Amino acid sequence: MDLCAVVLSSWSSSLLLPLLLLFLSANDVTSAAAAPLKFGINYGQIGNNLPHPTQVSGLLQSLSVNRVKLYDADPAVLAAFAGTGVEFIVGNEDLRNLTDARKARAWVEQHVQPFLPATRITCVTVGNEVLSGKDTVAMQSLLPAMQSVHQALVDLGLAGQVNVSTAHSVNILASSYPPSAGAFQEDLAQYIQPLLNFHAEIGSPFLINAYPFFAYKASPGSVSLPYVLFEPNPGVRDPNTNLTYDNMLYAQIDAVYAAMKAMGHADITVRISETGWPSKGDADEVGATLQNAAAYNGNLMKRIAAGQGTPLKPDVPVDVFVFALFNEDMKPGPVSERNYGLFYPNGTPVYNVGFDRASLSPSPTTSTSSSSSKPTVINKVLNFISL
Ligand SMILES: *[C@@H]1O[C@H](CO)[C@@H](O)[C@H](O)[C@H]1NC(C)=O
Ligand SMILES: *[C@@H]1O[C@H](CO)[C@@H](O)[C@H](O)[C@H]1NC(C)=O
Ligand SMILES: *[C@@H]1O[C@H](CO)[C@@H](O)[C@H](O)[C@H]1NC(C)=O
Repeated sequence: MDLCAVVLSSWSSSLLLPLLLLFLSANDVTSAAAAPLKFGINYGQIGNNLPHPTQVSGLLQSLSVNRVKLYDADPAVLAAFAGTGVEFIVGNEDLRNLTDARKARAWVEQHVQPFLPATRITCVTVGNEVLSGKDTVAMQSLLPAMQSVHQALVDLGLAGQVNVSTAHSVNILASSYPPSAGAFQEDLAQYIQPLLNFHAEIGSPFLINAYPFFAYKASPGSVSLPYVLFEPNPGVRDPNTNLTYDNMLYAQIDAVYAAMKAMGHADITVRISETGWPSKGDADEVGATLQNAAAYNGNLMKRIAAGQGTPLKPDVPVDVFVFALFNEDMKPGPVSERNYGLFYPNGTPVYNVGFDRASLSPSPTTSTSSSSSKPTVINKVLNFISL
């Protein structure tokens, strides 16, 4: 009892305990804490009530989450994670400035170089969903901006440790079904072809933001909920390859591979820079529920833990950054936009992901063996606090 009182007495501990309980299945506490989890988390900061980066750093380490994606290069965050080994994708959306080689270099010198190697920045994303937007000047600036950031990294001797990429909406695809017929929007080919050539040349990954939630919300009558939530379902067969898809996300990933191949590139890796599911939405946002969000993220994490690849590339484990770490109260738009977080800003889990690293099988209805694991969890909390 005294132990619990101590544990729950400070902000950081009241935040930590639910986090640990959320992520560590009751009978797998030790191994879960030992090995890094294989998924990343988007750490968005459009909120006025989010915890300080040093607190977030401690939390993510205690969970063994070792990959984080930022939308900027917030020095407070990068400094807070120094020495942690956590891998960072940082962002810069200032395309116009970045096309200027001098300014690109100044930005890298100010926002990336000083944090290396103590903070492991492994990728810079230039712009976010530029090609699915309406700003044609930005579209034209995208590749030149990426090129000057890459050149700055080369000149500073950092290109070997920091990739350059950009994150696209899955909407840059004109067709994604069947996956083998995946194709980019024709009017974007003028941008995408040279972009793919650049990715291949520098060996950097192609990043996609994909939300099966949007497809379901748009046509709940025709899109199968189990199919978008990674729940058991008969799946759909791609008639060209005979590969069967039991979930939409994998179909979208393989559609991107097919679209790239159609443009001559089988040599670029696809990573999911954002995916997630809102736990709450407006009345017309069908499917935005706590239960569906828990199913989507929980099932996805189980597949990632199992190292599963897509039907087209079964040996390449899917590589995902979940959106998002926290609910962000200052995001504009429908209610769903402020409810993608796995956690409330005070660290309480929004729902139980039921994370179980051990297998793809449904997680056991836990809490049974929790009495034996509780001391371990509390010890970990205390160990953390005493750091
Ligand atoms: C572009 O860079 C200049 C400094 O060179 C800076 O003052 C300006 O704010 C930047 N533009 C944007 C849109 O951030
Ligand atoms: C850069 O991207 C490539 C392709 O995805 C990957 O193999 C490599 O490890 C990445 N480099 C770093 C420093 O993360
Ligand atoms: C797919 O299966 C059909 C029927 O079994 C077969 O005729 C066809 O050759 C297969 N196609 C591929 C690409 O394996």
